[in-house]
Amino acid sequence: MGKLDILLFALGSFVLASAKLPKFIEPCSKSAADFQKCCTEHGNKALPTLLPGVKELNIPKLNPYYLDKVVADAGPNLKITLTNIELQGVDTLKVTDMDVDFDKKTVYIALHAERVMVIGTYDIDGKILVLPIRGNGPINVTIVDGQFKYRFSYKLEKKAGEDYAVIQDNDSLELKITKSYFKLDNLFNGNKLMGDNVNKFLNENDQDIIKEIGATIKAVISSITRTTGGGVLSAIPFNELFLP
Ligand SMILES: *[C@@H]1O[C@H](CO)[C@@H](O)[C@H](O)[C@H]1NC(C)=O
Ligand SMILES: *[C@@H]1O[C@H](CO)[C@@H](O)[C@H](O)[C@H]1NC(C)=O
Repeated sequence: MGKLDILLFALGSFVLASAKLPKFIEPCSKSAADFQKCCTEHGNKALPTLLPGVKELNIPKLNPYYLDKVVADAGPNLKITLTNIELQGVDTLKVTDMDVDFDKKTVYIALHAERVMVIGTYDIDGKILVLPIRGNGPINVTIVDGQFKYRFSYKLEKKAGEDYAVIQDNDSLELKITKSYFKLDNLFNGNKLMGDNVNKFLNENDQDIIKEIGATIKAVISSITRTTGGGVLSAIPFNELFLP
C-alpha cells in the first residue's frame, strides 16, 4: 500500500467506527492518566441522552423505569416479591466514579441518587429483623441521598469478527443510603393497627431494614444497569468504546 492508500484505509475505518458509535458515547483513552476521570465525566454527559431511552441500543425509558417483577432472596425467613414497579427519580442519578480494569475484565461504576422512589405492588411474608410481616398491596419505598457502588465482570464474545462485552451474572452492589421511607399499604389483610405499627417500625429502623432487603434493592439497580450497560455493550464492539 502507498501512503495515500494507508491514509484512505485509515479514514475509511474511522468513518466506519464513528458511524457505529452514537454521538453521545465519547470514548476515553485507555492509556490516559485521567482515564477514570474521563469515564466519569463522559458517563455523566451521556445520562440525559439515555434517560428517555435509546431505541438503536435497545435501552428502554429510564425515567420512570418500569420493571415487571423482582423476586428477591431476602434470606430464609423472608419472601419479598415486587410487581408492576415504577422507579421514579432516575434523573437524579449522577456518576461519581467509573473505571474499567481491562486485565481483570471488570467495570466499576459509583452512582449518587438524590431521591429515588420505588412505587409498585408488594407481596411479603416472613420476618423482618424480629418482626412478623405479611401482606400484599401498594408499596412506596423512597430513598434519599443514596450512594451505590456497582461492579461487574464481563467476558468478550465474538460476533461477526468483533469482540463484544457480555456482563457476567456475578455483579455486586454496595449501598449507603442516608434515609429511607417505607409505606406498605394493606399489611395483615388491612389490619390498620398492625399495619401502622409495622410501618412505624420500618421507618424507625430504616438502616437495618435496608440491609435486610439489600438483595431486593440490588435486583432493581442491577436491572437498570444491565439493560442500560447491556444495551450499549451488545450494540457496540468493545474496542470502539475506548481509544488506545
Ligand atoms: C412516596 O413517598 C414519598 C415519601 O414519603 C412521598 O414524598 C411521595 O409523594 C410518595 N409517592 C407516591 C407516588 O405515593
Ligand atoms: C465473576 O466470575 C468470573 C468468571 O466467570 C471471574 O473471572 C470474576 O473474577 C468474577 N467477578 C467477581 C467480581 O467476582
